[in-house]
Amino acid sequence: MKITVIGAGNVGSLTAMRIAQENLGDVLLVDVVKGLAHGKALDLEDARALLKINYNIEGSDDIGKIKDSDIVVITAGLARKPGMAREELLYKNAQILKDVCLQVKELAKNAIVIIVTNPLDVMTLYALKITGFKPNRLFGMGISLDTSRFINLIAQDLNLPVTDIEAQVIGAHGEGMLPLPSLAKIKGVALEEFLNEEKIASLVKRTVNRGAQIVSNLGSGSAFFAPSAAVAAIVKTIVKDEKRTIGICAYLNGQYGIKDSCTGVPCRIGKDGIEQVIELNLSKEEKDSISKPAAFVAESVKALCTI
Ligand code: NAI
Repeated sequence: MKITVIGAGNVGSLTAMRIAQENLGDVLLVDVVKGLAHGKALDLEDARALLKINYNIEGSDDIGKIKDSDIVVITAGLARKPGMAREELLYKNAQILKDVCLQVKELAKNAIVIIVTNPLDVMTLYALKITGFKPNRLFGMGISLDTSRFINLIAQDLNLPVTDIEAQVIGAHGEGMLPLPSLAKIKGVALEEFLNEEKIASLVKRTVNRGAQIVSNLGSGSAFFAPSAAVAAIVKTIVKDEKRTIGICAYLNGQYGIKDSCTGVPCRIGKDGIEQVIELNLSKEEKDSISKPAAFVAESVKALCTI
């Protein structure tokens, strides 16, 4: 397996590190900045003897090297600054993504592509439109991170291990996300058996604001430790054909009442990418609250495609 990560910034380099250290394949790290990816790959390579893992990692500023990659992770783009909404990144990142995606289409047309660049849902749909790739082979990472944040906050609040908790966030990766406390369970017991309505509402709010909380504390840039773990988990599921169900920013055409747009929903993932979009039984309000941001995503991409 040749696994390429485009963008050797915070998220990209940590993703490359995690994929290499799990020995999921030969890793290529690419960045437009001269020497950056090469330098980081050399540093990562130096850890092999300490970790006693014989992984292969290479870094380059030559995008031509992505030829025949099996999996391509795209993290190229600008990160959010404090007070900046993901949507503000739209135009700058769309231009970067377009350049990168056209190269992927030319050089690695059979790859499974994972978009990470924000604003995630818009970038994923835009990448699908630019490349014409099949939706099972091009999708985005966003709500598996949000779900992990939700589980973490529930676990902290109840002082329980994260492994005992099951929860789900769906919808847009951003302020429009929809944590679903009604589906949250602790070893099969509903969350509302443990916490009152007010406490649950506060956990939902903290989950939605978690990314912004990290951004404002960092001062520059956005989260990267948990995002890279989320990408590596998806890559592992593909490489090992695990068929795990993970929240993915997926193309929907009818499911959840959403047409021709992308949003976060649970999907079964295996060696061919998305093998099944799982349709949760949602209330009308829940459906409405994910379909409104999805309609906005479709409109934004229409506007981008005319530029
Ligand atoms: P960063 O600024 O540390 O790294 C971005 C890298 O992309 C830079 O090294 C830059 O030189 C590179 N780059 C720019 N144009 C390029 C091109 N044409 N080809 C190759 N490389 C190029 O940013 P960070 O923190 O790594 O975030 C990357 C992206 O991921 C941002 O858009 C950020 O908002 C997004 N993100 C998404 C998350 C998600 O859940 N989907 C979570 C965290 C970040």
